[in-house]
Amino acid sequence: MSGLFVSLEGVDGAGKSTLAHHLRRRFEEQGREVVLVREPGGTALGEAIRTLLLRREEVVIDPEAQMLLFLASRVQLLETVILPALDRGAVVLSDRFHLSTIVYQGIAGSLGEERSVRVCSAVLGERRPDLHLVLDLPLELARERRGKEVDRFERSEEFLARVVEGFRSTSGLPGDRIVRIPATGAPEEVARLAGEEVDRVVA
Ligand code: TYD
Repeated sequence: MSGLFVSLEGVDGAGKSTLAHHLRRRFEEQGREVVLVREPGGTALGEAIRTLLLRREEVVIDPEAQMLLFLASRVQLLETVILPALDRGAVVLSDRFHLSTIVYQGIAGSLGEERSVRVCSAVLGERRPDLHLVLDLPLELARERRGKEVDRFERSEEFLARVVEGFRSTSGLPGDRIVRIPATGAPEEVARLAGEEVDRVVA
């Protein structure tokens, strides 16, 4: 059985982690090995980068350096966790992947979509998800669902509005398969819609 690589994307509070757990259960019920990862993180290097990016606000990081740190974490995760899991035939569910870089650092941030696409493309090549599920949620609802956790990226409402729009407009890297799912419904309904999209890719 060949591996399947799915990324879950969307603005903070869109319900990615809940969806990841629903999808994990769905695949495990089918007898498949499921590997759940999150970005940035998932490896010792990735977690160190996560701490640096999200928690060490006193460390000044230039926007381009920031993008490269997200990518460094991603490459480490790909090479040591994701690609070996796909080789074993596992389903890999990633809470965020390169669409987050294109949207947060590129479209909503200062780097611009084109530059972020160029850099992600050069670094990742074909090492990318088979499917990107983007949870689409109006900003007001995302705000309500978001926890109170504060990090470097505790963003302005203007920034988050650009993030929501960025996830709606981006086509990612050339060849990316992006499916947008309305995330306003109950978690079970969102999971059902996501499951249908995944089945379409597997079929
Ligand atoms: P995450 O842990 O998914 O936070 P949340 O659970 O609140 O959605 O992601 C941490 C933050 O990092 C989030 O604000 C999005 C941001 N991020 C980027 O800016 N670029 C990236 O490439 C990734 C993966 C995340």
